[in-house]
Amino acid sequence: MKTPTVKELLSSGSPRPGAAAQGWIKTRRDSKALSFAELNDGSCRASLQLLIEPSAPGLAELLPRLTVGAAVRAEGDLVASPGAGQKYELKVSKLEIYGDCDAEKYPIQKKKTSDEFLRTVAHLRPRTNKYAAMLRVRAELSFAIHDYFRRNGFFYVHTPVITASDCEGAGQMFSVTSLDLTKAAELPRTPQGEIDFSRDLFGRKTALTVSGQMEGETLATALGKIYTFGPTFRAENSNTYRHAAEFWMVEPEMAFYDLHDDMDLAEDFVKSITRHVLEHCASDLELFARFVEPALMDNLRSVTENSYERLAYTDAVKILEPENARFENKVGWGVDLASEHERFLVEKHFKKPVILYNKPRTVAAFYMKLNDDERTVRGMDLLVPRIGELIGGSERENRLDVLERKMDDAGIKKEDYWWYLDLRRFGSVPHSGFGLGFERMMMLVTGIANIRDVTAYPRVPGYAEF
Ligand code: 4AD
Ligand code: MG
Repeated sequence: MKTPTVKELLSSGSPRPGAAAQGWIKTRRDSKALSFAELNDGSCRASLQLLIEPSAPGLAELLPRLTVGAAVRAEGDLVASPGAGQKYELKVSKLEIYGDCDAEKYPIQKKKTSDEFLRTVAHLRPRTNKYAAMLRVRAELSFAIHDYFRRNGFFYVHTPVITASDCEGAGQMFSVTSLDLTKAAELPRTPQGEIDFSRDLFGRKTALTVSGQMEGETLATALGKIYTFGPTFRAENSNTYRHAAEFWMVEPEMAFYDLHDDMDLAEDFVKSITRHVLEHCASDLELFARFVEPALMDNLRSVTENSYERLAYTDAVKILEPENARFENKVGWGVDLASEHERFLVEKHFKKPVILYNKPRTVAAFYMKLNDDERTVRGMDLLVPRIGELIGGSERENRLDVLERKMDDAGIKKEDYWWYLDLRRFGSVPHSGFGLGFERMMMLVTGIANIRDVTAYPRVPGYAEF
């Protein structure tokens, strides 16, 4: 029979003679008559306490090898524990060492180590309590997202990672090419001397996607309600606590939704997946609240219990302008709001999440639907405590002539987006969608302050180890 996990053992209904467990040693302490070791296998936050009588035959000589980080299997009786905080412990009768661990050299020590240091050993940090908890929450949050959409009639679709279109039109794409750019002399050239990408594998210039939205729109205008959930890439050189070059984005897209339906969905979605994590990850969240972010539970209550403030951009400027003395970037109508402004609105002014909508067209992506005032578009950003922008979305411009005009204004070549324009030529409908940054959602639910620490292997400027 398969050896049970520590989680399974600790949730047993009754003591079990003849049990077994395997995992990694977290700590060990010895007294004259007994040695205690904490065995953790990652299945849950709790460890299983091993009780070892050093005099027992076959155990004494193995004890010195029971060091922090060693991988072991222990067999014995699962008995009720007299100690506080644990239901059972394992009275060990047999030990097997799978892999020794030299405590002197092992980088993961029990004593606290800094986040910065742990990033340099990202291959081992999942063995710490905090990062294991982060990864368990990440798995549960992913499940919550799929569960939410499935319950609400959305289809999960897969949009391409390699694409020829720049959805955000911001030119922050990583090129993808089969040409060997290190051999400049051998590259195919156009008569003008530029690299000839028609000779590339795809016969054209391609890049890693910044968003699955445009392809998502083609699928929503056939299936009704879809969502994507996949990796996206931005080659922006933003070295901040909330920007990564590779991150996962959740992008629902809905036919027949206007901006207000879109905002309603965004609010319900964030509340629902947050509640799911509160319900299913209580023990891991308790760790984050105790060791990472003391205000975590208050912040999560603020997310699940409040109704979010709906604030038009023009009204936001009226609130922010008188506060300009406190901001590094001064606010005036037309300015793209920065994280300091977003956080002021959420944390200081409204003290709850805010959905900011109707932003100036000059700071918005070309696909957002133009309002009748011709100055603002039906875009929205959902802002939360500590992080600022968690979601960006909009009602999409569904009028062919207006969209073409906006693409011209933005200097976007219409020929390259013929298929996107076709959606407005053939059975165009009002439709809307948004993108939620999955790592930012992770920062929200765990209280972890840096995007580098909510994913196993962060990709940020100057760093792509592992
Ligand atoms: O606001 P953004 O750029 O919107 C879009 O890409 C739309 N096409 C989405 C859509 O409507 N389908 O990005 C959406 C979200 C942001 O609100 C933020 O949470 C996250 O993606 N995000 C990032 N997360 C981490 N690192 C970055 N560099 C990010 N850029 C955006
Ligand atoms: Mg945005």
